[in-house]
Amino acid sequence: MNILMVCLGNICRSPLAEGILRSKLNSQEHFVDSAGTSSFHEGERPDPRTLRTAKKKGIDMSAIVARPFKKEDFQKFDRIYAMDKSNLDHILSLTQSEQEKEKVSLLLSLNHPGEQPEVPDPYFGGDEGFEIVFKLLDEACETIAQGLKS
Ligand code: 4NP
Repeated sequence: MNILMVCLGNICRSPLAEGILRSKLNSQEHFVDSAGTSSFHEGERPDPRTLRTAKKKGIDMSAIVARPFKKEDFQKFDRIYAMDKSNLDHILSLTQSEQEKEKVSLLLSLNHPGEQPEVPDPYFGGDEGFEIVFKLLDEACETIAQGLKS
């Protein structure tokens, strides 16, 4: 299974989601990546607060570099998870078929079906926002991992 995590900058939420989900899956069987709906931070390493939070939890982020979402991602990935509604709308606006649309959903709706919960953008806050984000992402990634094992 190829899974893509998407946020705005690809330096805070989606790289952390990528690292967390990778840590829960067998890399021989599954490929996990992340991207941003913007190219603001293209080529950059994750935000220092993201790296600090990941390190505290033992999550390896060494190979992650920001890149923008591209239309070819619809071919490469089986599932595309957006962190918030704005990211979701952006990705959906690029879809060209029902099949592409069906791949896209809000990450947190996995644990809250029927709702439209968002991973809050921690960029303009402090380290505590990243802890909250980590917990939300970890719960959702656990649900993905359990689903792929059964
Ligand atoms: P992310 O956070 O989308 O979780 O990576 C942000 C990173 C950068 C900006 C906004 C959100 N920015 O405005 O540059």
